[in-house]
Amino acid sequence: MTDTRDADTRDADTTDTDTPAPLAMSASGITIRFGGLVAIGNVDFTIPERGIVSLIGPNGAGKTTFFNVLTGLYRPSNGRVLLGSKDVTGMSPHKVASLGLARTFQNIRLFNLMTAEENVLVGMHSRMRSGIVRTVLRTPGQRREEREGREFARELLEFVGIGAVAQELSRNLSYGDQRRLEVARALALRPRVLLLDEPTAGMNPQESARFVEFVHRVRDERGVSILLIEHDMSVVMRVSERVTVLDRGEKIAEGPPEEIKSDERVIEAYLGKTGTHGYGEDE
Ligand SMILES: Nc1ncnc2c1ncn2[C@@H]1O[C@H](COP(=O)(O)OP(=O)(O)O)[C@@H](O)[C@H]1O
Ligand SMILES: [Mg+2]
Repeated sequence: MTDTRDADTRDADTTDTDTPAPLAMSASGITIRFGGLVAIGNVDFTIPERGIVSLIGPNGAGKTTFFNVLTGLYRPSNGRVLLGSKDVTGMSPHKVASLGLARTFQNIRLFNLMTAEENVLVGMHSRMRSGIVRTVLRTPGQRREEREGREFARELLEFVGIGAVAQELSRNLSYGDQRRLEVARALALRPRVLLLDEPTAGMNPQESARFVEFVHRVRDERGVSILLIEHDMSVVMRVSERVTVLDRGEKIAEGPPEEIKSDERVIEAYLGKTGTHGYGEDE
């Protein structure tokens, strides 16, 4: 008993008290203005280590804008973004990516005339050390790096379930497979955090259901922390450990999916927007 006291105490610290879980990423006091429009107003947000959290809200709520702040595409007018304990506010997307943040896009962005495998290799490129000179000279070190890169690309394509089409041009892949390829390419960065912007948009219900399982596998087997923007509510409710709701650039609710589903302000934000369920088509 006394032997395990330290471990027991640690467990008690994380389960029985208010000690916060370690964070993979956090943003505080984020404000973004476009001219006179406040697209994001003073929003705090965290991604727990190995958590799966989601960001929802009516179209125009500011979800993609917020993503763009996390990834370094937009510099916030106010606020701070931390990746682990590192302040990445205002860093370039390339730099933030190299520090462990990978993303997919609301509209699929793949290189159509490259094979699936080549698309993953492109995702890996910023982590490879070979520069132009070594590429031209093709030193043994560079050849080994290239071989290892291809092996890792194949492993990732197998992992996301599209190993069989590794040599197909990405434009010939089915829509669902292109979405998986985007995830493989993002994972090629060996990220700590993965951001998925509306990953199930355009999927049928069966594909969406499989994607939910897939997201859990990505977290469990690759150890990444995941933030999704999602507008399919059945996906949000099944995939997320925590849901944050934005409306007109403000955080109006945050909590476990069951709570969010019955939150008055959330229901109102969605119903008030379009008079239907409010999950309109993308911009
Ligand atoms: N680059 C931009 N310049 C000006 N306004 C923008 C820009 N990007 C987004 N907006 C505006 O910011 C608001 C939030 O947009 P967005 O983040 O795309 O919403 P969502 O992803 O939740 O649908 C909208 O009013 C949109 O028109
Ligand atoms: Mg968006």
